[in-house]
Amino acid sequence: MNIAIDGPAGAGKSTIAKRLSGELGFLYLDTGAMYRAVALAMLGKNVPADNESEVAKVLETADIDIRYENGKQKVFLGGEDVSERIREHSVSKAASDFSALPCVRLKMVELQREIAGKTDTILDGRDIGTYVLPKAEIKFFLTASVEERARRRYAELKEKGADCTLDGIRKDIETRDYNDSHRAFAPLKKADDAVEIDTTGMSIDEVAKFMLGIVNGKLK
Ligand code: DC
Repeated sequence: MNIAIDGPAGAGKSTIAKRLSGELGFLYLDTGAMYRAVALAMLGKNVPADNESEVAKVLETADIDIRYENGKQKVFLGGEDVSERIREHSVSKAASDFSALPCVRLKMVELQREIAGKTDTILDGRDIGTYVLPKAEIKFFLTASVEERARRRYAELKEKGADCTLDGIRKDIETRDYNDSHRAFAPLKKADDAVEIDTTGMSIDEVAKFMLGIVNGKLK
């Protein structure tokens, strides 16, 4: 069984997906981490996102690997564990830019389908329910107001000691939302059969409880 969780940046997808994966014993695949790894690979080689043929060339030999250590997803680039580096603020915007390129998406989607095809998996991203796994048994679409999403991201980054402002984060989120939902290929979009949840003002426990209720109903 596969569970798709899509939605814009900062809507709480990964926190919830991790919680659900723990409760249900499903594998958790954070697909955004894959696009972040691509972005890091391109930034490392100074390849701009508007040069798709160069991106495709670098992608051919880029050694991006997803591994699980003690049930936790790790991302490797060229054999190096980049799980922390891909979270850096500068990588977020680049991930949004590079993820708009069909050559990048096709390669990552192939990998995502391969992983999800092997075992019960919860995937979070932007296009899981619409493009990657249109036949996923359960689909959720998480949203929250841009102010709340910015506050969540800001708190997360500040905890890691990042130098950022709430206003800067909000603007970046708005830009990413726009890019992710306006690209031509597999944009961020709610699948017609996805359950939409506005998590503004809801605690993680409340969201998780609501979603688990739906999943358990389907599992019966
Ligand atoms: O979920 P995230 O913030 O880590 O994702 C980083 C970027 O990757 C996001 O701005 C858009 C892109 N992305 C995507 O296009 N499709 C996905 N399934 C997941 C992420």
